[in-house]
Amino acid sequence: MRLEAVTRAYGDVTALREVTWSFPRGGLTAVMGPSGSGKSTFLHCASGLDRPTSGSVRIGEVDLGTLKEARLTRLRRERIGFVFQAFNLIPSMSVEQNVTLPLRLAGRDPDPARVAAILRRVGLAERAGHRPSELSGGQQQRAAIARALITEPEVVFADEPTGALDPRTARDVLRLLREAVDVSGQTVVLVTHDPLAAAWADSAVFLSEGRVVDELTAPTVEQLLRRWETL
Ligand SMILES: Nc1ncnc2c1ncn2[C@@H]1O[C@H](COP(=O)(O)OP(=O)(O)O)[C@@H](O)[C@H]1O
Ligand SMILES: [Mg+2]
Repeated sequence: MRLEAVTRAYGDVTALREVTWSFPRGGLTAVMGPSGSGKSTFLHCASGLDRPTSGSVRIGEVDLGTLKEARLTRLRRERIGFVFQAFNLIPSMSVEQNVTLPLRLAGRDPDPARVAAILRRVGLAERAGHRPSELSGGQQQRAAIARALITEPEVVFADEPTGALDPRTARDVLRLLREAVDVSGQTVVLVTHDPLAAAWADSAVFLSEGRVVDELTAPTVEQLLRRWETL
């Protein structure tokens, strides 16, 4: 996946400035940076949820900018999973219905064994029939993650997926994303403020005022903290 000179402006606010970046296939990348530095915009542009004002985004051989809306939607559905910062669960649907929605939208029949397995992995086996409003923030977060993983997408984007979680649940979620990379060979990009979370990544990218300003490979918590403090 590659972004080439991607700029995204909202009126007179430029959220991303000429960002060029490649994400290695089968890698876990953490995106860090202060609030307002463009992290969510970066993810939205890279995943085809938003179109850059200028520049290009490629996933494998496909240039997203050349795709019409319907084809882009299909590509997102088939190849990309997205965990939204605000979860975006559908309030009227149960956990199970929310999690299997991407499959049903793609016209695929949910395999009950696989659905049960993924709910177990995120610790929601006992909550399958509950509505989002009946869940804690952490449980909603985990339902959103299960929904992003259910289609086994090539690339998973997660916008602050541990933001609402206690340390133990956060660790479970990070282990899940790490497994997606190590066991299933998926590519994961995760936004976080938390050096403890970013230390799970193969590489950490730092954004400041809409630009990539640094990268740390195989980062340790200490290195991340030190870099964060001087950002
Ligand atoms: N839809 C939008 N309309 C107008 N401004 C936006 C929009 N989305 C983001 N911005 C602005 O772009 C900048 C980067 O935002 P964002 O990517 O959400 O940052 P982060 O996720 O790092 O907090 C901020 O100044 C924000 O106010
Ligand atoms: Mg954000």
